[in-house]
Amino acid sequence: MPTKPTTIAQPLLDWYATHQRDLPWRNHPHPYAIWVSEIMLQQTRVETVIPYFHRWMEKFPTIEALAQADLQEVLATWEGLGYYSRARNLHAAAQKVVQEYGGKLPADAKQLQKLPGIGQYTAAAIASMGFGRDEVAIDGNLRRVLARVFNIDQPIGNPQSDRQFWERANEHLVPGQAAAYNQAWMDLGATICTPQNPRCLICPLREVCQAYALGLQEQRPVKPPKSKKPHYTMVAAVISYQNMVLIRQRQKQGLLGGLWEFPNFTTEQPKKAPEILPQELQMHFNCQVQVQNAIAVLQHAYTHFRVTLHVYRCHWIDGKLSSQGNSSPRWVSLQQLPDYPMGKLDRQIAQRLLASQSNNASIKEGKFG
Ligand code: ADE
Repeated sequence: MPTKPTTIAQPLLDWYATHQRDLPWRNHPHPYAIWVSEIMLQQTRVETVIPYFHRWMEKFPTIEALAQADLQEVLATWEGLGYYSRARNLHAAAQKVVQEYGGKLPADAKQLQKLPGIGQYTAAAIASMGFGRDEVAIDGNLRRVLARVFNIDQPIGNPQSDRQFWERANEHLVPGQAAAYNQAWMDLGATICTPQNPRCLICPLREVCQAYALGLQEQRPVKPPKSKKPHYTMVAAVISYQNMVLIRQRQKQGLLGGLWEFPNFTTEQPKKAPEILPQELQMHFNCQVQVQNAIAVLQHAYTHFRVTLHVYRCHWIDGKLSSQGNSSPRWVSLQQLPDYPMGKLDRQIAQRLLASQSNNASIKEGKFG
C-alpha cells in the first residue's frame, strides 16, 4: 500500500526542526549565498566547503562584486576545491546575471538553468532554498535515501529510476515547505542514512522505511556496474634559469582551465623521460634544456582518470619561448608561485620547490646541523 504523504514529510520536517545542521549559508539573507554554496557543494564535502564559503563571501560579497572580479582572483580563491570549471562558470554566470537580469538572480528554476554551471539539481536547490519555490532538489545523496525509504531497486543513474526518485520526492513535498523539506532529506542523508552503516535505529523514518522493513537498507541504492578509471603516466619539467622557473597557463576551457602548470606531457615510457624530455620541450616550447634529476613522483585521481606524474628538474640552456594556442609560458621566481592559481599536482611541486629553497637557505645560514 502506498504511504500517505504526511507519514513521511511530517516526521522528516519535525526531525529537521530540531536536528538541522548549523551551516553558514542557511538563513543567509541573499539567494546568492545559496547559489555559491550549492556550486561549492557539488563535488565537495560540507566541512571542506565551509572555510572556502566564508573566504568567498568576504572577497565577493555580491553578484556584482563577483562579476567585476578578475578571473585569476576568482580561480585563486577557489584553489584547492578542484573542478575549476565550477569557478569559471560562477564567474561567467555572475556576469550574465548582471547583464541580463540587472544583477538579480532569477527565482525560476527553468531560468536558473540557463546560467552556466546550473543544472537541474542546482536550479531546484536555489529556487527552493533561496526563493521558497516548490521544487524538489534530488542529488546523489537524496537518491540513496529515497532508494531506501521507498525500496527502489532500479540502479541509480538511469532514466527509469530517476523518474521514480522524482515522483516519490514530489508526492511527499509539502507545498510552501520545499526549503526545509529538501534540506531535511540532505541532513538525514548526511547524518543518519549514510552510505555505510546507516543509523536506522535512530532514524525518524524507521517505521515507514521500506528497505529497513525488509532488511535491505545495505543493498540500496542499487549501483550501476563500475567502469575502471583509465590511468595516465605523465612527465613534468621544472625548468630553471637563475632564480626563475618556467610555468604556463592552461587553455581557458577544459580540465583545470586557466590554471598555471609546469610544462608536462603524457608518456607510456616514464623510464625514458630523461631522454624524451628535451625533445618534447624543444618541440612544444622551442627551448633547449639539460635534464638534471628526478625530484618527485606524484599521484592524483581526477573524476574520470588517474595520473602518476614524474617530475624532473631541468636547466634552461637556450631557446626562444613560443606560445601554444592562447596559453603563454612565463618565467617566475619561486616566491611568486603562490600568486599563480594551480591544480593539486602543480601546487605540490611548487610547495616542494619553495620548501627545498628555504631548507637550502637555512642550511646556508647555519640553521641546520
Ligand atoms: N549539499 C548540497 N546542498 C546542501 C545544503 N544546502 N545543505 C547541506 N548539504 C548540502
